[in-house]
Amino acid sequence: MEVVIVPDATAGGELIAEAMAALMRRKPDALLGVATGSTPLPIYQALAAKVRAGELDASRARICQLDEYVGLPAGHPESYRSVVLREVVEPLGLGEGSFMGPDGTAPDVHAACEAYDTALSAAGGVDLQLLGIGTDGHIGFNEPCSSLASRTRIKTLTRQTREDNARFFDSLDEVPHHVMTQGIGTILEARHLVLLATGEGKADAVAHAVEGPVAALVPASALQLHPHATVVVDEAAASKLKLADYFRATYAAKPEWQGI
Ligand code: GLP
Repeated sequence: MEVVIVPDATAGGELIAEAMAALMRRKPDALLGVATGSTPLPIYQALAAKVRAGELDASRARICQLDEYVGLPAGHPESYRSVVLREVVEPLGLGEGSFMGPDGTAPDVHAACEAYDTALSAAGGVDLQLLGIGTDGHIGFNEPCSSLASRTRIKTLTRQTREDNARFFDSLDEVPHHVMTQGIGTILEARHLVLLATGEGKADAVAHAVEGPVAALVPASALQLHPHATVVVDEAAASKLKLADYFRATYAAKPEWQGI
């Protein structure tokens, strides 16, 4: 995988937004997999700024969701559907028709997971999938010990993830226990994986994912199996990487036109 160390979250957001913009210029109807949480917000802000400035026509882009809570009422502001519509789809000037996600309100959750997995392939597959990383090394909502071959399915959150996400709710009790997530096998089918991690709290997870063995215990380590995976980290999230100097030198020597 390529590891790019950037000074801060804003720089990471700008770098990734530029890669997404370049993709949309090459392929206007690209299917872009987006992630939720706080980390990717600078990417979405940078993308929206490009659209507003007239530097990017995103009107034909398609957006798909990585994961979803199970059981939140339709339209709940913290359902990932609502978050993606609010943070990505609307700011880019897209309509709901350009957006797909797993239905967290479906009466048959298992069938809805399978239907979403099939729909992603039927849409031609994801061109670029954005990822964050949980403090426990999860990607999407694939918690530690998720099968590296898993497909979209229902998962139970660890207490740590529920505590991490409680800041979006009024209390820990309101954080759902169950979620739907693209499986690790599903995620690995995207053509380009781009993981952004910022802040010291992610330093251990990043070090295990990038420099540790590929292990179900650290779901993000599955990126090591992907032919085109880019990990963008700020200095704080890179602080436990043994090979940080090598990553810096490699990226500094890369021709500018090559992008990420
Ligand atoms: C949630 C999401 C993940 C995200 C993670 C980290 O668990 N399901 O996709 O990567 O949170 O979020 P944050 O970026 O807010 O730390």
